[in-house]
Parts: sequence; C-alpha cells; structure tokens
Amino acid sequence: MASMTRSSSAIAFVIAVIVVLASVLYRFKLPYLTSLSPHFVLYSSSSKTFGRYMKHASSFRCPQHTYTTEIISLDPLLIYIDSFLAPVEIEALLEAGESEFAPSQVYKRGRNQDTSDRTSSSAGLPRDNPTVQCVLERAEGFLGTMLDPSRDDIGPPQLVRYTAGQRFNRHRDWYERPQPVRKGMLGRGKGWNRIASFFAILQDQCTGGETWFPLINATIPLDADGKGDRLWKTHENGGLMFRPVSGNALFWVNLFANGTGDDRTIHAGLPVEEGLKTAMNIWPRKFYD
Ligand SMILES: *[C@@H]1O[C@H](CO)[C@@H](O)[C@H](O)[C@H]1NC(C)=O
Ligand SMILES: *[C@@H]1O[C@H](CO)[C@@H](O)[C@H](O)[C@H]1NC(C)=O
Repeated sequence: MASMTRSSSAIAFVIAVIVVLASVLYRFKLPYLTSLSPHFVLYSSSSKTFGRYMKHASSFRCPQHTYTTEIISLDPLLIYIDSFLAPVEIEALLEAGESEFAPSQVYKRGRNQDTSDRTSSSAGLPRDNPTVQCVLERAEGFLGTMLDPSRDDIGPPQLVRYTAGQRFNRHRDWYERPQPVRKGMLGRGKGWNRIASFFAILQDQCTGGETWFPLINATIPLDADGKGDRLWKTHENGGLMFRPVSGNALFWVNLFANGTGDDRTIHAGLPVEEGLKTAMNIWPRKFYD
C-alpha cells in the first residue's frame, strides 16, 4: 500500500516537473526547439501565433518554386517572373490579408499620408502566416547575395487592391533619404532603403491596371516577340507597360550600388477601368551605416 502511494507521488512529481519545464521553455520562446527546427523561430514568438502555427503546421508544405524568369531590361534591372505564386498560395494570401484592407497611403514630406495620387487600398500581411513566410523565403532566394543576412531583411509584406477608377500615379518605391532605424533594429546601421521591389499579381479580373515604367525600354522590338501582345507592350508615351496576370510578378532594382535611388525605376499603376486588381508588394530593405 505504502509503496503504491510512493510510486504514484513519484509519477505526479515527474509530471509536475515536465509541466514546469514545458512552460519555462514555452515562456522563453522555445529556445531549445528553435535550434531543432527553423520554423519554430518564426512561429513561437507568442502563444497566439504559436497556436496559429500549430493549426497550419500539419497541412502546410512550402513547395519548391516553379517560376521561370525573363530579363526585360538589364539597366535598370527589370525581370519578369512567370508563376511566382501558385493558385493555392494566392488563395491563402488573400485570406490572410482580406480583413486588413484600408486606404493606401504614400510617404511624403517625412510621413505617411493619404493622397489622390494613390487611390488603392492596402493590407499588411501577417509574418507568421506559413504561406506569407513561404513566399518571402522564395523572394529571399531569388535575391541571392543582394541582402546581407546579418542585417538586411525582406521588409513587411503587404497586399494592394485597385477597383474601378483606382490608380497609383508615377512614383518611385525608394525613399529620397534612407529611413531611420527604429528601436529593435539597433546594430543594423543608421538607415534603410528599399533596394528592390517585387510586385506580384494575385487577382487580375480587370481591364486596364497595367504597371507602366515610362523610362524603361526593352532591348528587342516587342512586336517581334510573341509575348509582347500577351504580357507587355510599349506605351504610347514611351516605356513599357505590363498587363496584370495572376501569379506572375515583376522584379526590379531600385538603388544603385552606392545606395542612391535610380530615377529610371519610376512607374505607375494605370487606372483599373473595370473589375479588380490585387497584388502583393515585397520591398527588401538594405541597411546602411
Ligand atoms: C528609353 O527610351 C527613352 C526614349 O527613347 C529614353 O528617354 C530613355 O532614357 C530610355 N531608357 C533607358 C533606361 O535607356
Ligand atoms: C551613385 O551612383 C550613381 C550611378 O553610378 C550615380 O549616378 C550617382 O551620382 C552616385 N551617387 C553618389 C551620391 O555618389
């Protein structure tokens, strides 16, 4: 009798130790587990995100990419990426951002503000969403050695949506002056800027809504290229314009090697005439001293 009581209290003690250890590990962001699986680094930062990760973890696989690429312009560098996003990824990204859409802002005179230059709506995407994570990893892979992993990053991703009549007048994605480094980013230099841009189309059920680069030309005459009619063409006022095609993306480099912005990357989202265009922006950030 006495030995049974002893063994059950021993079992209770062991269970209590396990529970305490588990909650300590959990409280301190599972440092032990993070060393086993890189996924835990991203999904263990709070109980809420952890729960979400666990929900997705069983079903989600980040697939090997299947995109193909074509250089449109070498200087400035502009690359067309065919099938950057898979249909299931588009669905998941839309679901992740849908409730967050609010009028888009632009950065002017040192702050973000509403403007008639940009009439779309934008939605930040949660970094802990497995599909968002997967697409950002793909973008990072595409960037190769452009980012220094010890200080640069892929930046906060967002969706942008244009409905009939909405547009984004000519603009550049880079900042005139590097943005100040905020608390929590210390040790990474004094300022950052958007070294490049990915613009990936999620929904293309629209007329109009082309992305127009007035100062970028193709090297070859476009009419000689069968693709010309389908995906891009020359604009009557110069430069190239790209029809929104779901899953496809444009990639271009915003900054020169010395960190100065390249004015030739100026571009516009031409007005959507009818329907809806939704895209994802990825703006990798380069940090400078
Ligand atoms: C593209 O062509 C236009 C008109 O000829 C020219 O002004 C512009 O500088 C060219 N862009 C580049 C990047 O060469
Ligand atoms: C940076 O490089 C570009 C391209 O070579 C050049 O036009 C620009 O003047 C340079 N800027 C500075 C601040 O040196």
